[in-house]
Parts: sequence; C-alpha cells; structure tokens
Amino acid sequence: MNHLISIDDLSLPEIHDILSLAATVEAIPNPEKARLLPGALLATLFFEPSTRTRLSFETAVTRLGGRVIGFSDAAASSTAKGESFSDTVQTVSRYADVLAVRHPKEGTARLASQISRVPVVNAGDGANQHPTQTLLDLYTIQKCFGRISDLRIALAGDLKYSRTVHSLCRALMLFDRVEITLVSPPSLRLPAYLKSAPGTTATFAETESLPDALRSADLLYMTRIQRERFPDAVDYEKVKNVYRLDARMLSGLPDTFKVLHPLPRVNEIAPDVDSTPHAAYFDQAANGVTIRQAVLLDLLRARPA
Ligand code: CP
Repeated sequence: MNHLISIDDLSLPEIHDILSLAATVEAIPNPEKARLLPGALLATLFFEPSTRTRLSFETAVTRLGGRVIGFSDAAASSTAKGESFSDTVQTVSRYADVLAVRHPKEGTARLASQISRVPVVNAGDGANQHPTQTLLDLYTIQKCFGRISDLRIALAGDLKYSRTVHSLCRALMLFDRVEITLVSPPSLRLPAYLKSAPGTTATFAETESLPDALRSADLLYMTRIQRERFPDAVDYEKVKNVYRLDARMLSGLPDTFKVLHPLPRVNEIAPDVDSTPHAAYFDQAANGVTIRQAVLLDLLRARPA
C-alpha cells in the first residue's frame, strides 16, 4: 500500500510525476464534471489546528467527485474520552478510502501508516514533515520560474521548528544546483542532519541578516516563528519579532523576485507586501488544492483519461 509520510519517501522522478499530474488536473476545464474519484471517501483526522491543509484536502476530494468525513478538533472526538490514537486510526481506516492525519507529535503519521488499512497522508507531524506542503511549494516555484533547479532560495524565520522548511529543504536537495541561504537567529537554525544527503549539488549558506539574503536570492520562503513548538515561552518572546518583511525592503528587486510563505503568517510579512508583484503566497495556498488532488489520485491509483 502507498502512503505519503515524508518527502524523503519520494524520488525525484516521483516528485516530477506528481507535479506533472497536478498540471494535468489543473488544465481540466471542469474537474467536478470529470469525477476522477467518484464516491471516494477522505477522512481528515486533525489533532492540531489548520485552515489551508484541511480545507484544501476537502476541496480537492470534493472537486474529484468524492466526499469527506473527519474532525478538526480532537476534543470533539473520542480522544477526549481517552481513546488511543491507534484505536482511532484502526476505526476510521475501516470507514474511509484514504486518511489525512495532522498531529503535534513527530512520527505519528508514520505510526498511522503502520496501523491503517488504507493510504495515509501526513498533513503535518509536529516539527518533522509536511510533504504535501512541499509538493505545493515546488509546484508554485515551478509555475513562477519555469524550473526548480538553478535557483537561489532564501529560507527565513523559524528553521528549527518549521516542518515546511524541513520537508522543503530535503526536496530542494534533489534538484540541480540549488543555492540555499538559511536566514535565522542562532537559536532557530536548521538542524544539521537535514543538510546532508549523498550526491546532492545543493549548497548552504547561513546568515542572520534578512536584507543581505534578499540581495542574493531569486526567491524568499518566509516562515512564522512557531510559538506552539517552543518548550519555554520566554525563549519564544526573545525571537517572536526577529524578522518583519515589508514592501520597502523589496523595493529595487526585480518583479521576478518572489516571496512564498506556507501561511498562516503572524507579523513576519507586512500587509503592504500583498499588493506587490513579489507576493506569491496566496497563489501558493491556492495551488494546495491542485497538488492535493494529484496526491489523492496518485494514492488511490486513479489517473485522468
Ligand atoms: N500551511 C499550512 O499547513 O497551513 P495550515 O496550518 O492552515 O493548514
């Protein structure tokens, strides 16, 4: 059985295949009519808050002719009565055709895949991985630049706890000659183990200066400081306002320079960036529907005719 738990589960050809499938789905004029997954039932088991991931999964399966069950708040499920995660997965995998699981604990989606009777998609497990976010990030980069290789990409903010950065870094290392600049305060640096992969042609540089990074990049991937992951609230207070990108900082950069953000944002991108030609983050969120349609089709082994 096929699951999508970590971006490391996918080879470069498999990533290209999903991006290409997404482009095919996006080109279908009326995907609702095509009903590529008629009657398919997606269960969303969300033990952590979400707007984009859950609602784009729901939109994706609905547009393919399927339906959704699930919960967005574990407090409204039998978890609140003491039911184990394992028993929840055992049960729901007997109802649905595919599960999307979000959980604050690293490794929980992998555990679900070992228990489930149906394919599992990791919709974010703690600070570990968020593979469908990475696929939609790559899809957005591909659409903005026509390529993913040979780009200079600055990743900024909370590189220690951001699962979207962790997944994206691993994926970028599969592409040719990607120059990655890591922008963070010392306490929020990217864990070292994420930077090594056999045969990669990606290079890494580190800086604390966002303005310096902007001058030598084609693309900025901004992230929120992940308050909920800090063991100590005092440490969060020290770094919560460390970066704030505004339109003035982007003046002088070519229109082709793009700002991505997995969202939600708090205060790290000022609203005046939204109306600049650089802002790509809402289009990026929209691409989440297309990519999750492709992922569901792939996991359920359906293809457009
Ligand atoms: N990017 C992302 O995972 O957003 P949500 O937390 O709103 O799902």
